[in-house]
Amino acid sequence: MVKLDFKIGDLHFKNPVLTASGTFGYGLEFDDFLDVSRLGGIVVKGITLEPREGNPSPRMAETPSGMLNAVGLQNKGIDYFEKNIYPDLALYKTNVIVNINGSYIDDYITLAGRIGKLKKISAIELNISCPNVRMGGMAFGTNEKSAREVTRAVRAVYQGKLIVKLSPNVTNIVDFARIAEEEGADSVSLINTLLGMSVDVKTMKPALSTITGGLSGPAIKPVALRMVWQVARALTIPVIGMGGIMNADDAIEFFLAGASAVQVGTASFIDPQASVKILEGIESYLVEKGFSDIRELIGLLNKVH
Ligand SMILES: Cc1cc2nc3c(=O)[nH]c(=O)nc-3n(C[C@H](O)[C@H](O)[C@H](O)COP(=O)(O)O)c2cc1C
Repeated sequence: MVKLDFKIGDLHFKNPVLTASGTFGYGLEFDDFLDVSRLGGIVVKGITLEPREGNPSPRMAETPSGMLNAVGLQNKGIDYFEKNIYPDLALYKTNVIVNINGSYIDDYITLAGRIGKLKKISAIELNISCPNVRMGGMAFGTNEKSAREVTRAVRAVYQGKLIVKLSPNVTNIVDFARIAEEEGADSVSLINTLLGMSVDVKTMKPALSTITGGLSGPAIKPVALRMVWQVARALTIPVIGMGGIMNADDAIEFFLAGASAVQVGTASFIDPQASVKILEGIESYLVEKGFSDIRELIGLLNKVH
């Protein structure tokens, strides 16, 4: 058998295929399509302190080889999550990671404190792509000072594994990855969606109610791969790669570029079993190529060039 496991510190993952936040609900919605516990982990949809209705429609738009969304973190808030979702999630035999979001640093601190009390939650994924109200709506993750502040604040209150999810909407993502590592993150995940827009020429209106939104899917893969490669070379903590992974070959590109694990996002909208199929494809590839451990693949690109 091929070894597929990986670790973030002392947190063990049976394999390196996870689902990306916002594309897999709470996992529970996928129970009819696959055995969620086969995955290395799931990252549940973004959670906020208070319930959020999200943005008005239209908040999804298809583009050539990608998807624009402006869902706006629609979710029922932490109270609902603790009472109604967490008990079911605790039954999964895999790592459950909660993606946390806020408008103020205090929101993140409170959320991290409450998630820290939920024993079955393996890690927090800190989404720093949220608008920072104190900075006029500029995302925490696109300003070095606020990215540092929010990471430091969450690290101070959360003892579990902390994964900082990086925004690609910056000049040099390596600077932000280094900040996360310096402030005690156990891992970084990247990339979140790329800011984009689309216009309907028939109505002469923007395709999204918010005008701009987040681009995901195959269109962003080359950008994501480049960023993962850059970050993996610069950091010592494990890097989780995502962005346009639709099949096993896409995932393997990320491992070769230096990712220790991958997340599957938009692909799950097209095929709810995509994540498990990608896992199976990775295993077959390793067998075919004669590898006994996926670690042999990680960052191999840098060794053969
Ligand atoms: C509909 C939708 C909702 C998303 N919601 C979140 C979220 O709540 N938190 C977050 O960190 N990322 C969120 N993302 C970003 C994804 O987790 C992922 O970073 C991005 O889509 C790139 O991966 P992909 O191309 O495989 O989809 C969302 C993406 C989509 C398409």
